[in-house]
Amino acid sequence: MNSKSWRYTAEDLPQLSPFGSVLADRIAISRFEDGGWKSGGLIPMNDFRLHPGAHCLHYGSSCFEGLKAYRWDDDSIALFRPDRHIQRMQQSAAVLRLPIPDRDELMEMLVATVMDAMADIPPAPGTLYLRPILLGTDTNIGAAARPSESAVLYVMASPVGDYFAAGDRALRLLIQESARTTSQFGKVKTGANYASALGITLDARDKWGTDQILFCPDSDVQETGASNFVLIDDKTIITKPLCDSFLHGVTRDSVLQIGRDLGYEIQEKDFCVDDLLKWTQHGEAALSGTAAVLAGVGTMIHNEKEYTLSGGETGPNTQRLRKALVSVQRGTEANGHGWIKKL
Ligand code: COI
Repeated sequence: MNSKSWRYTAEDLPQLSPFGSVLADRIAISRFEDGGWKSGGLIPMNDFRLHPGAHCLHYGSSCFEGLKAYRWDDDSIALFRPDRHIQRMQQSAAVLRLPIPDRDELMEMLVATVMDAMADIPPAPGTLYLRPILLGTDTNIGAAARPSESAVLYVMASPVGDYFAAGDRALRLLIQESARTTSQFGKVKTGANYASALGITLDARDKWGTDQILFCPDSDVQETGASNFVLIDDKTIITKPLCDSFLHGVTRDSVLQIGRDLGYEIQEKDFCVDDLLKWTQHGEAALSGTAAVLAGVGTMIHNEKEYTLSGGETGPNTQRLRKALVSVQRGTEANGHGWIKKL
């Protein structure tokens, strides 16, 4: 494919904002009915139908994923860690008692969606964001205490630039000593968890001009509304160990591995708000996620007091790790962990 057939150039990336608002015309779709998955191939998005009584609309039986396809400098296309995202969707589906997506079928759907949207994949620094979503489709509006036995799975594609509107500006976080969601549901990538963080995030934006809330129930530093949270300094990367209460980020895992490879000591341990405030005196903090990549934190607000990190900028170790991660995603460095699926 040569550049003339691309719809987007690097100069067009501002048109792709806000993140996720431009969508490819077609989706790959599959339905779980009578105990098995049946592929529906690729369909125009406008042909998608959902019954108003679908279980997902009434009882929240839905989960999703977010991963990216990259146009490398040689014009080839690569998916980053699709296996890991499929595993996480299977984990979410199991908690929600939804039919578990078949690994091979979902992989084929991801590939089919990317191939179909090939002309929409922007060059660097843009990417094609992929959104698989699984919905419970039983049509019994009394089935609050029953799982949905039927489901639809589809994959959407969206050419994107930066997730945070401010681009590379270091982020402002409000430290909030409450939970993002429930302790058993945090690891599920489901819309309800984002809904529960929304109002409080908007209120904080209005009052404090913050980008995200850092949820710290009972002072336990967990994650933000849209990303995981890591502390970084010249030698160490610290983040909460995996448990059911927060999302098991694929980017989190990738940053920890890349950090290990670069010689950082990785500490997966619980830490509290007091530890975090002390850390601001010398260390860096960042948000990790598919959409966020690794975004530096410049300011944290707690009890009406502002704490500045790294002089209010993205710190040098965060920049180094982000660069290393993006180099693997874009194929300018190989790290031997088998994270890349070339198309
Ligand atoms: C992602 O990082 O893929 C997410 O799902 C976050 C979402 C807020 C865009």
